[in-house]
Amino acid sequence: MTAVATPIRFDAARAGSDAECEARIVAARKRLGDRAVILGHHYQRAEVYRHAELTGDSLKLSRLAAQTEAEFIVFCGVHFMAEVADILSKPHQKAILPDLSAGCSMADMANLRAVERAWRELSEVLDPDETITPVTYINSAADLKAFCGEHGGIVCTSSNATLILEWAFGRREKVLFFPDQHLGRWTAHQMGVPLDQCAVWDFDEPMGGLTPEQIRAARVLLWKGHCSVHQMFQGSHIEQFRAKHPGGVVISHPECSFEVCAASDLVGSTEFILNAIHAAEPGSHWLVGTELNLVNRLAEEMRPRGVTVQFMSPMVCMCSTMARIDPQHLAWCLEQLADGHIVNQIVVPEAEAKSARLALDRMLAVS
Ligand code: 13P
Ligand code: SF4
Repeated sequence: MTAVATPIRFDAARAGSDAECEARIVAARKRLGDRAVILGHHYQRAEVYRHAELTGDSLKLSRLAAQTEAEFIVFCGVHFMAEVADILSKPHQKAILPDLSAGCSMADMANLRAVERAWRELSEVLDPDETITPVTYINSAADLKAFCGEHGGIVCTSSNATLILEWAFGRREKVLFFPDQHLGRWTAHQMGVPLDQCAVWDFDEPMGGLTPEQIRAARVLLWKGHCSVHQMFQGSHIEQFRAKHPGGVVISHPECSFEVCAASDLVGSTEFILNAIHAAEPGSHWLVGTELNLVNRLAEEMRPRGVTVQFMSPMVCMCSTMARIDPQHLAWCLEQLADGHIVNQIVVPEAEAKSARLALDRMLAVS
């Protein structure tokens, strides 16, 4: 059946229970056959994650999206991930986000207007196109990736940030890193950049709140953005765990604060965390600083092997936007696709996609 784009909307009143949706997902998936592939980020809830044929962190998922031949790439993740799938896939393929409101609050902390203003303001002190490589975390809108493509910059993810910053410093003496200050600071520190050469660019202030001298002295300008989930983890949580389990292992995502990363034994992407815990010794204790769905799943998987996996915060820190992809939206969108209606397609305008692809291709070539 030929699929056509249609404005059909999800109807919450007819969404059905989780159990009903489970059966509907299986049935619709079967009808679609190899016309569709379901990609799932590690933060997806269990009822959705189990239907993903391909799972990974942002880097792995962007590679997989570029390699698949399926007509529909159904992305169980957040908006920027589906945009990347659209940019890197072939023209006949369609990236589908089961719930269009699944965004990323950190990605929303930078926008093109504010980044262009920063670039203009920086040009009052130095020539940014000669001295600064713009690096955007993949958690950002497509137009910011396009900005990086057009200004000799690049995209990074949590798993390749060191390689990307090395690439960036190989070209220009400074980096403007957005939107996550924590990933930028931790990565720069890992590369030996002193913390006093990392200056926070406050996008609400003229000149980022910095003096011309501070701008000239900085090697890394860190956009004042953060992840609201990962900022909940604190050094005191690690101290309490270590007091109870002196031989335990602390593993964190680099979106955590510098204090948390520095007090952790291991720091890495969601795929890195998953692989490290899957390889854990029986009897070992792990404290994990990342989103709750992934930590809960790892705790369940590892319990029979005698490995304890504990969430870092006493508070519930879920990514509420990732959680918007629920079995109801997945069932609905698979059924619509199987019936020939293209719903919730993510389309990046071609001119923007072209420049964004440049920055993404640079990243894929480096990593
Ligand atoms: P990963 O690329 O490590 O999966 O991280 C994505 C993310 O949004 C973490 O909050
Ligand atoms: Fe964005 Fe944080 Fe959610 Fe990751 S966990 S998708 S950075 S809001």
